[in-house]
Amino acid sequence: MTGEAKRVLTGIKPTGTLHLGNYFGAIRPAIELAKQHDSFLFLADLHALTIQPDPARLREETYGIAAAWIALGVDPERTIFYRQSDIAEIPTLAWILSCCLPLGYLNRAHSFKDMTTKGSDAGNILHGLYSYPVLMAADILLFAADQVPVGKDQKQHLEIAQEAARKFNHIYGQGEAILKVPEALIDERVMTIPGLDGRKMSKSYGNTLTPFMTPKEVKKALKRLVTDSTEYGQPLPTESDTILTLINLLNPERAQLLATNYQTGRKDPSVNDTSLDEPSVNYFGWGDAKAALNEVLEDHFKEARERYQELMSDTRKLEHLLTLGAERARAVARPILRRVLDLTGLTTQLPSS
Ligand code: ADP
Ligand code: TRP
Repeated sequence: MTGEAKRVLTGIKPTGTLHLGNYFGAIRPAIELAKQHDSFLFLADLHALTIQPDPARLREETYGIAAAWIALGVDPERTIFYRQSDIAEIPTLAWILSCCLPLGYLNRAHSFKDMTTKGSDAGNILHGLYSYPVLMAADILLFAADQVPVGKDQKQHLEIAQEAARKFNHIYGQGEAILKVPEALIDERVMTIPGLDGRKMSKSYGNTLTPFMTPKEVKKALKRLVTDSTEYGQPLPTESDTILTLINLLNPERAQLLATNYQTGRKDPSVNDTSLDEPSVNYFGWGDAKAALNEVLEDHFKEARERYQELMSDTRKLEHLLTLGAERARAVARPILRRVLDLTGLTTQLPSS
């Protein structure tokens, strides 16, 4: 990695099963970025705790999400891949930042304000949820990240991280850039992947397809895919069609061929109906389109599914990878925290590597 490569860092909350929206919207872009940058990726399990998940579930989903990202192409050699709670330096820095940020400023955070305007009594909101952006600032500042790829919903959290760096630098660094002010990397062009019902694919809508479904499971899930009532043998509408959209993201050539099937309503558009005893054998309908999607998904994700199953069948390998990742992450974090501790007057002895 060259000295000029920007350091890119992002966190993923280990909650819920990963779906194709996450794959196209977050995982694939992160893998691409890691090819050109110095990249840090972590499982934000401490953040997940702010919704008090069931402990067994949190454990399972932490491994599940780690296995999924690795199976789908994150290379733990290239990317420093770790679990947030393994890095004790993060909550230490979070506390120091807490002591730099005024309450009046944090009160303006959307995540907190939304809750109070939705009727939650501020007194009942968990402190962890309230200080969520401060922990996130520590995640970022501890590694001197240059850029943080996030969804639009995280924009304000990034602003809080920037403010935390500035405040610390002002209070303890006499304005010197001790903590690097990070930049948000929000790709407005990332398309919204549609789900089975045509709305945004999201675990909260229960309209997802996941990369690790078997063809049988995909077939079942696709029964719920909403299509129109075009008569069998008639052209199918290609405009904003979920099946074509998904296929186009995985195999554009196949999507182009398929668009011709849609436009003609025929499996083989070169065959003349009158030459067939039973023209309907050549009709192309929604069932055929769904079968094509199933095939394309299987071609693309079969190997990843096998890798995922292998990683999940023995979590020791995952533990090993995460432990190595945490060691590498700590080696980067420690000198930064050392400097911060020294400036604040804390005489903490950090364990040596
Ligand atoms: P969900 O909506 O299922 O709760 P998350 O909010 O956990 O998904 O999203 C995690 C990441 O995946 C974010 O970076 C988000 O931008 C991306 N993502 C989620 N759903 C989609 C989608 N339908 N299209 C594109 N990107 C998505
Ligand atoms: N809050 C982010 C989310 O909900 C996850 C996250 C935690 C994160 N810490 C981070 C993202 C640091 C980027 C950088 O998606």
